[in-house]
Amino acid sequence: MDVAILGGTGDLGEGLALRWGADTDHTVIVGSRDAERGRDAADRYERRLDSYGHGATIEGTDNATATQQAAVVVAAVPAYHLADTVAGVADAFAAGAVLISPAVGMKHDGDGAHYNRPSAGSVAALAARAAPEDVHVAAAFHNLPAARLADLDRELAADVPVVGDETGAETAATLAEDIAGVGAVRAGPLANAAEIEGLTSLLINLGTYADIDDACVSFE
Ligand SMILES: NC(=O)c1ccc[n+]([C@@H]2O[C@H](COP(=O)([O-])OP(=O)(O)OC[C@H]3O[C@@H](n4cnc5c(N)ncnc54)[C@H](OP(=O)(O)O)[C@@H]3O)[C@@H](O)[C@H]2O)c1
Repeated sequence: MDVAILGGTGDLGEGLALRWGADTDHTVIVGSRDAERGRDAADRYERRLDSYGHGATIEGTDNATATQQAAVVVAAVPAYHLADTVAGVADAFAAGAVLISPAVGMKHDGDGAHYNRPSAGSVAALAARAAPEDVHVAAAFHNLPAARLADLDRELAADVPVVGDETGAETAATLAEDIAGVGAVRAGPLANAAEIEGLTSLLINLGTYADIDDACVSFE
């Protein structure tokens, strides 16, 4: 499967690219606002994977080209720029492509992290509004800490809640389960995205107050 990661140069993009590179034979395409930055990141990830004995194919390019080349597009950009980013590549989606939002809007204060729910209902709802109608939209991966994903010396043990339309959610669940140590749990349609986006602030606060290192969620 060809998987594009918009903003794949960032923390979550790096973590997902490394895990899919290590655990699958998917072609990962790192997207960026700047094609050269995308290529540099892809080369860096390939070298890292090579040092672990994984001969993965990671490509790098601009966000629109990455979108054009992929059946699945993960929008790994800051929540407040996600809708604009999706709108900016809207013409590039293949018919029937899947768009996955991992994005969470949060604010931080002296007490902790707080989910900042957009008036549209969720960041995923904003992404869906910005995407073409024939694109299947899902939301997933919110609870996977980027640093843990990128640390290939550490095993993962987490379940990823997934919401979306049938095709979108099934694809996102498959991509989650493709990562060793990660399971997927279906949490209904995209209308339920706010509930799984809000998990992230809870996990961050658990990390702070309960001293849980890189809190992940397991639903076993
Ligand atoms: N970090 C985590 O542990 C984690 C875990 C789960 C979910 N998430 C979610 O995943 C998303 C990405 O998180 P992250 O930590 O990877 O973010 P990040 O490192 O801050 O940014 C990711 C990439 O987004 C692009 N970007 C930055 N500003 C932008 C803008 N104004 N418009 C369009 N693109 C922009 C940049 O790529 P270019 O400069 O190359 O374009 C950047 O490398 C967020 O929505 C976050 O809520 C994060």
